[in-house]
Amino acid sequence: MAKNDDQFKKVISHAKEYGYVFQSSEIYDGLSAVYDYAQNGVELKKNIRDYWWKAMVQMNENIVGIDAAIFMHPTTWKASGHVDAFNDPLIDNKDSKKRYRADVLIEDYVGKLDTKIEKEVAKAAKRFGDAFDKAQFLATNPRVLQYKEKGAAILKRMGQSLEKEDLADVKALIEELGIACPESGSKNWTDVKQFNLMFGTKLGASADSAMDLYLRPETAQGIFVNFLNVQKTGRLKIPFGIAQTGKAFRNEIVARQFIFRMREFEQMEMQFFIKPGTQQEWYEHWKEARMKWHLSLGMGEDNYRFHDHEKLAHYADAAADIEFRFPFGFKELEGIHSRTDFDLSQHEEFSGKKLQYFDHEENKSYVPYVLETSIGLDRMFLAVFSNSLKEEELENGTTRVVLKLPAVLAPTKAAVLPLVKKDGLPEVARKIVDDLKWDFNVAYDEKDAVGRRYRRQDAAGTPFCITVDHDTLEDNSVTIRHRDTMEQKRVKIEELRAIIKQEVDMRSWLMKM
Ligand code: GAP
Repeated sequence: MAKNDDQFKKVISHAKEYGYVFQSSEIYDGLSAVYDYAQNGVELKKNIRDYWWKAMVQMNENIVGIDAAIFMHPTTWKASGHVDAFNDPLIDNKDSKKRYRADVLIEDYVGKLDTKIEKEVAKAAKRFGDAFDKAQFLATNPRVLQYKEKGAAILKRMGQSLEKEDLADVKALIEELGIACPESGSKNWTDVKQFNLMFGTKLGASADSAMDLYLRPETAQGIFVNFLNVQKTGRLKIPFGIAQTGKAFRNEIVARQFIFRMREFEQMEMQFFIKPGTQQEWYEHWKEARMKWHLSLGMGEDNYRFHDHEKLAHYADAAADIEFRFPFGFKELEGIHSRTDFDLSQHEEFSGKKLQYFDHEENKSYVPYVLETSIGLDRMFLAVFSNSLKEEELENGTTRVVLKLPAVLAPTKAAVLPLVKKDGLPEVARKIVDDLKWDFNVAYDEKDAVGRRYRRQDAAGTPFCITVDHDTLEDNSVTIRHRDTMEQKRVKIEELRAIIKQEVDMRSWLMKM
């Protein structure tokens, strides 16, 4: 098994074993690409959402939040273009009967060229040692340049063909590149067809009066239709933003990468309303701001990169993804889209209501342009979780599995462990839990030897273990053990709050932005 597949399998089984993510309705053999968050998962997910909300809404005076309904008037989706254009290009393999997204097959082919580039870099780094200049190598090595050019040309052609709805050329490209079905190796493909991703449902009791609805495929439209309500009641001046987090639904064709691509998922989106003509400047601003947010979590600069879109969505005049190095390679984590005035103008047209802003400085009304940042909460969860899972060799020859989650996001910040279950130690430990729980999510654990309890907390991602022993009864001190360094220190009980706060407080993490 390839190393990356192996690592990904470990991520999935660890997420289950430690109460992070379960397959939905598992007792009925599950539902494809639908997942439930378990007791630890729900905390990690909430902490990621809070980290985003703090940075996006509460730290920006000109950005406010809303929580729009999942059901929206069906004309919304006609206006937004989703009824006509929210499609994925599908292709079937005639031999294996497996269905694929044609664009994903091509992107995966280009991904393999990227892997070849990485291998060239690793080889050269080994050869040149300290003298190796990665940037220069990437810019000048003929083989790297050849791979890059080939990848860019493929993506360009695919983007243009999809833009023009030339699906025959997309198939031709797959055939020219010799792309085979990943399951069977067969190159016997059907034509490429478009498939709409929205889930339909009905509102109302009787069959003849029921109204056809869609489950929202993005949260953004709930923001657009509320744009004027929020602007007026909040007396907001352009530029300003509206943010929300919430569920979105897509009938994904290829959904086999755990929580990377789900049919029911959560988005964290922000629409920033700006003066027409300023979109380039705000596009750059939000690309940089969002990358800083990611980097503040300390998950390694090398694990992120920008990818400019060749194929623009029906609403965008510029778009880039922030890609993350998942166990299966670099993939989209977040999108930054310059959406022009497409959505508001469309809603004006379809609703017959004016959705304009009166600019007092310019003394005129206009439909604002929109810059959007859109990140999948589940995808961010996977990025954080997969990047944090490590297997470490210890000095004594044993190994430990540790989930090095950024402490600010960890579900449980500290576990309090009485060394033994007697002599009054559990009572002291419980008192510490009762005090710390006002500020942090803390756990109490008295089962098994303390070493095993440390390992259990390491694997669950708890940044601190606090051990109460017999000396505690004499001098009010405890041992605090750090998950990542395994360093242990003796401290007073009354110091615990400040020590934990220093490491888990959002302020100190977000200050790194
Ligand atoms: N409002 C714009 C929009 O929805 P998108 O690129 O389609 O743009 C934005 O989606 C983000 O939502 C993606 O970058 C990804 O993180 C997340 N996302 C999209 N589809 C997803 C799915 N099926 N499962 C999990 N996350 C998804």
